Amino acid sequence: MSGTKKGNVVLSGMRATGRIHLGNYFGAIKNWVDLQDHYDCHYCVADWHALTTDYADTGDIAANALEAVADWLAVGLDPERCVIFVQSWVPEHAELHLLLSMITPLGWLERVPTYKEQIQQLKKRDLSNYGFLGYPVLQTADILLYRAHFVPVGEDQASHLELSREITRRFNGLYGPVFPEPKALFTPTPKVPGLDGRKMSKSYANAIDIADTPEEIRRKCSSMFTDPTRIRRSDPGHPETCNLFAFHRLVSPPDVQERVERECRLAQIGCVDDKKLLAEQLIEFLTPMRERREALLANRDELMDILRDGSKRARERARETMDEVRSAMSLDYGGNGKGLSG
Ligand code: TRP
Repeated sequence: MSGTKKGNVVLSGMRATGRIHLGNYFGAIKNWVDLQDHYDCHYCVADWHALTTDYADTGDIAANALEAVADWLAVGLDPERCVIFVQSWVPEHAELHLLLSMITPLGWLERVPTYKEQIQQLKKRDLSNYGFLGYPVLQTADILLYRAHFVPVGEDQASHLELSREITRRFNGLYGPVFPEPKALFTPTPKVPGLDGRKMSKSYANAIDIADTPEEIRRKCSSMFTDPTRIRRSDPGHPETCNLFAFHRLVSPPDVQERVERECRLAQIGCVDDKKLLAEQLIEFLTPMRERREALLANRDELMDILRDGSKRARERARETMDEVRSAMSLDYGGNGKGLSG
């Protein structure tokens, strides 16, 4: 494989659940953009992972995958500098998932904290399925298929990554050292709050999307929670605990941040005016991204070409890995084991 920067491979993925919000951007994708020039980066639209919870309603998955990729490109992922691909277009993910499922004890999967939490939280769906339990095994296949050294993820993925490392050790112990042990690269950004101060999340309906129009941004900002201890306009505010200020820190230029911080503490600016100011800062920050995503989605053929090309490149590496895996597991039938597909 040519073009390996510093010899280190990065793999990350995101479930194909549609347009991304500021929490996805600051919590993950911005970091993906920054890593492009330092590693040999592979980014996966995990459409099969979306099926683990949305299996009963698959109609939106393809459109969601395309919207997500349009957002990724709009915020700065560059198909010339990284490999962007669709999980289901590289069927080797399924083969490696199957092989890894043979060596993964049920107890390891049942212990993953997100497993029980999700079953509790998504009560409306029956998640007592084989595929849902195996979510982290599929994720491990995503990582190992590219023999990745580093996996940029948020803290919420720590338990999945730990499990991936355990499965890797088990594979290498049984069949020989095929895979490097993947290490998490935790994203150095703080949690992005939502409009209501809880973590920004699609399922809480408290998100600001990259695709939001100026009108939507103004409407959302006007409904934002602010410093709860600032009751009257004349009360001094506390930027360090105010939800609004958390957003200024992310998107406003330093001089605006300094002014808001000072005026808020002195009760010179009120929350309503601050919301208006923040809306304009967000609009300035997001408009170029939104325009780029619109242009990309208006030209689907080009978007599909980018994904086809990325998936082809991903598949080349995936096939090399599977040759090594089959050989390590004595499934290569004496070197003739590419079967009919080779
Ligand atoms: N499980 C990850 C999430 O929910 C998405 C994901 C799928 C992923 N495959 C991956 C992350 C491989 C890192 C590596 O965000």
